[in-house]
Amino acid sequence: MADTPRRSIAFIGSECYPFVKTGGLGDVMYALPKALVAQNCDVRVLVPKYACIPQKYKDLMVYRGSFDMDLCSDGKRYFVGIMEYVWDGVVYDFIENEEFFGWGKPYTDLVVDIPKYCFFCKAALSALLYMNWIPDIVHCHDWQAGLVPVYMRTLLNGTALGKSRAIFTIHNLRFQGIHSKEHIQYWTGLPDEVFGLPYIGQSNGNANMLKGGITFADLVTTVSNTYAQEIQTGFYGENLDAHLRYHAYKLGGIVNGIDTNQWNPATDKHLAVNYDASNVHENKKKDKLALQERLGLNQDEGKFVIGLVSRLTNQKGLDLVNSIIPQVMDEHTQIVVLGTGDAEYENSFRYYENAYKGNMASCIMYDESLAHSIYAGCDAFLVPSLFEPCGLTQLTAMRYGTVPIVRETGGLKDTVAPYNEFTNEGNGFTFDHYSAWLLLDAINRAKTVYFTEPERWKQMVDRDMAKDVSWDLSAQIYKDMYLSLTQW
Ligand code: ADP
Ligand code: GLC
Repeated sequence: MADTPRRSIAFIGSECYPFVKTGGLGDVMYALPKALVAQNCDVRVLVPKYACIPQKYKDLMVYRGSFDMDLCSDGKRYFVGIMEYVWDGVVYDFIENEEFFGWGKPYTDLVVDIPKYCFFCKAALSALLYMNWIPDIVHCHDWQAGLVPVYMRTLLNGTALGKSRAIFTIHNLRFQGIHSKEHIQYWTGLPDEVFGLPYIGQSNGNANMLKGGITFADLVTTVSNTYAQEIQTGFYGENLDAHLRYHAYKLGGIVNGIDTNQWNPATDKHLAVNYDASNVHENKKKDKLALQERLGLNQDEGKFVIGLVSRLTNQKGLDLVNSIIPQVMDEHTQIVVLGTGDAEYENSFRYYENAYKGNMASCIMYDESLAHSIYAGCDAFLVPSLFEPCGLTQLTAMRYGTVPIVRETGGLKDTVAPYNEFTNEGNGFTFDHYSAWLLLDAINRAKTVYFTEPERWKQMVDRDMAKDVSWDLSAQIYKDMYLSLTQW
């Protein structure tokens, strides 16, 4: 346990592994609180109690209390239940309300999601007040929790939470929670002034929940240094670059880690064969053969197998991937894709699976266990994103000795040092501009080292496995930030 002073933190966000996860936000909401406990923090995580949370977790929750809360501008009141589960030193409080969370998955469309997360922001804070658990820091994440700092500094400013500090972390600036001012004002009951341009209003008359988080938080962070800089530019700024530049004095980047116990090739129960740094070169081949068998690929440990595990959206650089698959596929290469998302990508990957039977597998599904087998069984791992706030898959790939091929953007740039053929250093193969030819070139450079300089390839695998991708360092940086805000 770190010997810095103890601080209490409420994490508020829309997903948390293993209860509910659609992407990296869920991973961070799980792994960072655990790492903060080791930094002498007292952490409570508040998430909605969605219907889709597996029953085995619901069975573990205990009733912590309930109350009625006013929400809308016409005074309409809503039930708020708190179901609690304590695990590994972290307290999870699930916010219950049948009307908002009693059906479906976390995200549907904005018509439904805006009222849902307006409710969630106020309900999470009201739950803290109800439990009389007043944290030093309220740390909220992404647009779904963007109104938390807004409520703290307006309607709830007179409560005990008025003294707590607010931190807002941007995991993905693309999603902002935008709707008409009237709609958001009705659902939140927030006063008129808040809807001005410097606060949560937009010039087109809409209101923006993520913008509210930026405006009212004491500090704003994002999940890598490079992304913190990028979002202040027009290309990456998603129309908020000017607002972010205005608030740049309180904006910084802290790179994500991964939970190295959850992702550990030496103990991973999903793998055919476990391995660590001492036997990776022999055992990883066995995981490759097992993966090929599982997916119906030609079994050959000599093939260069490239993996991709991703939400299938245009953020992830899939247009580049799609346009070069025919050039990548040769008799020495296989590609494995795991993901769900936009139909255009799902269908093109299905098409390629059929076109390259036996050497290309497209698993259009969400499957945690298969993801583990892919991280272990592949030689290289593709993350050619258009933008990437941090990216966790390249970190996991490195942890499993799988060499990343990434575009130099956001957290990919901050975590994957490019291979330098002169000094024999680096963790992976990188390219800068968003170009299919540069991606193809990076893949070809990787193949060349793999096939013509196998010793150097192995040394890169060794460097990747030795790299610290844990939360240890970044959790310390978060703790220092919490301390800097709470010098009492
Ligand atoms: P993002 O949050 O933008 O989706 P990240 O790289 O931060 O990207 O995190 C993605 C997380 O979701 C990783 O843990 C990855 O393994 C997981 N993941 C993505 N798609 C799938 C899938 N189809 N099946 C299993 N896990 C997936
Ligand atoms: C977002 C980003 C991803 C990041 C994750 C966790 O979903 O797209 O880059 O790793 O959040 O912070």
